[in-house]
This record gives sequence, C-alpha cells and structure tokens, in this order.
Amino acid sequence: MAIITFPRGFLWGVSTSSYQNEGGNRGSAFWDWEARRGWERSAEAARSWELFDEDLRLLRELNLTACRFSVEWARVQPAPDRFDEEALARYAAWARRLAEHGIRPLVTLHHFSEPAWLLRLHPGGWLEAGVPERFLRFAERVAAALGGAVADWVVFNEPMVFLLFAYGLGHFPPGRRLLWRPQRTFQPVLLRGLIRAHNDCYRLIHRLQPGARVGAAHHVSQLEPARPGDEAAVARWDRFMHRDFLDGTKDCLDFLGLNYYTRVFVSSSRLPGLPAAALPGFAEVEKGLTRPLFRLLGGRRGGGPPGGTGWEIVPEGLGAVALKYWEEYRKPVWITENGVADEAGADREAFLRGHLASLARAAAQGADLRGYLHWTLVDNYEWGTYRHRFGLCDRARRPKPGASFYAETARRGWFEG
Ligand code: FCB
Repeated sequence: MAIITFPRGFLWGVSTSSYQNEGGNRGSAFWDWEARRGWERSAEAARSWELFDEDLRLLRELNLTACRFSVEWARVQPAPDRFDEEALARYAAWARRLAEHGIRPLVTLHHFSEPAWLLRLHPGGWLEAGVPERFLRFAERVAAALGGAVADWVVFNEPMVFLLFAYGLGHFPPGRRLLWRPQRTFQPVLLRGLIRAHNDCYRLIHRLQPGARVGAAHHVSQLEPARPGDEAAVARWDRFMHRDFLDGTKDCLDFLGLNYYTRVFVSSSRLPGLPAAALPGFAEVEKGLTRPLFRLLGGRRGGGPPGGTGWEIVPEGLGAVALKYWEEYRKPVWITENGVADEAGADREAFLRGHLASLARAAAQGADLRGYLHWTLVDNYEWGTYRHRFGLCDRARRPKPGASFYAETARRGWFEG
C-alpha cells in the first residue's frame, strides 16, 4: 500500500459543456442537425440551465475545487446583431457563485456548438473570413461580462476534433468532407484559421483582463505504432493531430489543457489522401470503415478493456502525455478532460485510481500539473446519443459508484493505492 499524493494547490474538478448539459439550445446549429441526421435528440440534455443550484450542491458534496463549463454562443448571441444580456448575466452569476464556494471556474468559449444563424450567413463556416471575426466579437462580449469572476479561459475545446468532425468527416455541422485533400484547405485554411483565432482571442482577453490565463483544451491520445515500421506514421499523425495546433499557438498559451481518453495505434496508410498518410486506430474509425476493411488497410486496435464508447482504457497514458507535453512545451498542464462511459459496466473507481496514480507519477517526475477535471459531473448528451454515460452522477443527480472515491480524494488530496 502506498500513499499517492499530488502537488500542493492541485485542483480537483469536472468538465462540462453547454450543449451537452444545459438543454433546450434551439439556436445551435446542432439542434436541426440532430433531426436531419436522425440522431437521438438532445432535448432537455441534463437540464443544467435550470438546475445550476443542484449542480453546485453536487460539486460541493464532491468537495471539488474547479469546474469547467462552456458558454453557449447562440444563447448569448441569439441573432447576429443582438446579445442577450440576461443570458450573459446568468453565466456570470454561475461563475461568481462557484468562486464564492471555493470552486475555480474555467470557461470554454467554443465547445463545438455554434449558432445556426452563423452557418446560415456563412455556409462555409471557418472556411469563410467572416467567422473568425464574429467569433472574436462574441468572445469579447463574454470576456467583458464574465471577466470579473473568471480568470481561466479555454478558447477552443479540442480544435482538431472539431475540424475533423465538422470539416473532415461531415459528422458535425456544417458537415463538410474535406479530409481527402488535407493540404489544400484543411491545414492552410481551417487549421491556420483556428490558430489565428486562438491567438487573436488570447490577445483580446489579455487586453481586457491583464491577469487572465488563457489556454486550450487539446485532445491528445497516447500514440503507438501498430507494427514495427509504423514509427514514421506515428510521427506524422502526431504532428497533424497534436503538434501543428500547439506549435501555432504556443506563444499564446498560459497553460496547456489536455483531454486524454485513450491510446491509439497508428498504421502507415495504404489509402491515398488520408491526412498524414496514417490510419489512426480510433474506435470510430474502425466502425466507420467496418472492421474487415479497417483490418485490410492495416488498422489495429488495442486489446485493453474498453469503456462504453469502445475506447480502450489505458491509465498509464494519462501520466505519459502529461509528462511529455510538459517537457516539450513547458506550460503548466491541466487535465481538462478524462473519463469513462460506464454503461457497459466500466468501473469508475478503478478508472480513477489508475489514471490518477499515473498522473501523480508524472508530477513526481517534475511535470507542472495544476488540476484534474473529470468528464463529467452528470450523465449528459453525448453528441447524438444518451447511451454513453460519463457522469459521476446520473441525470437525477444521484451519485454513482466511484463518486465517493473521487470526493474523498478531492477532500484529502491523496489516496491509498
Ligand atoms: C470529448 C469532448 C466532450 C465529450 C467527451 C466524451 O472529446 O470534448 O465534449 O464528448 O469527449
């Protein structure tokens, strides 16, 4: 038995997102998209727009000291020429109340969901110059309204996942499929556009609020070669999926947020035109291609236990990525998301123990780690389905197995491993 400890001042929290939690976000481009795509409807989601007091009570019962939530663009800007001051005030009040209870608010400005009007005016989305401009105006209003209570900002949640889903695979609005020619538009226009928007937003927030800390929540996986000889493919995928965005924004990052869920085996691609000429073995890629085709193309999946989403559970990966990104970028690291869907029986306490122990090892090896934000507080809408249940609590706000372990760890700042 060993005592697993964490750095002094380390914060314990959860991550949520507006579209997945609040409910009734009719102004989002996702609202009609769900209907058109035949997705399960988000409808009320987790009703967090109404149930903030309940959520705050849960955060306190769980002894948490940080909470990341996002601001729903279409709620605070329901039309191109109109901001909803009441909605802004409600978000500002949330942040203040969290802070009053010793819970540090971290606010995400872009968590996948954009107003339907934005994509009506600019059907090309981030391919059009007007969109970054409008995003900055939105960010400016939010920073001005919430800045008194919020010092920690995440500009983009998972910029590469957003680009891949919205512009690569057509899975999110505006549903473009541009991945086959990454070097034509995907990287020079879309990726560069997001990098520039991040950097502009960083400068804007710092102008309004000199003491602010601005970062990103970047999706990172632990990468491994599918077979000997695939190391170059790993390096290419790493550059495409992980490094390009960070290298473009590193002078405008006060901290680095990492969203870590799984390990991915990368194969050299035998398909012409795949980004980075690499086939990443995500569960979704295998499903999209069908297993026989995925295998035929050289794809490989890890054999560890899968969570409900099919993502292989690899606890060591969390510490490994935290240490690696700290060593390479020398920015304070937050784990801005990590979690497991437990509908298939995955054990959340075991998941937490394994991941937190690996994180503690990374801290002991020198990584500057500031906090861990579990995805998520209550079961919520998982982009097309309610099947995947990532909550520490269910939608009725009842704590699930694993929640009490997390609460106890947050209270003491250590656990016995
Ligand atoms: C991440 C997203 C988040 C949620 C979790 C499970 O990629 O940022 O919104 O869907 O996965």
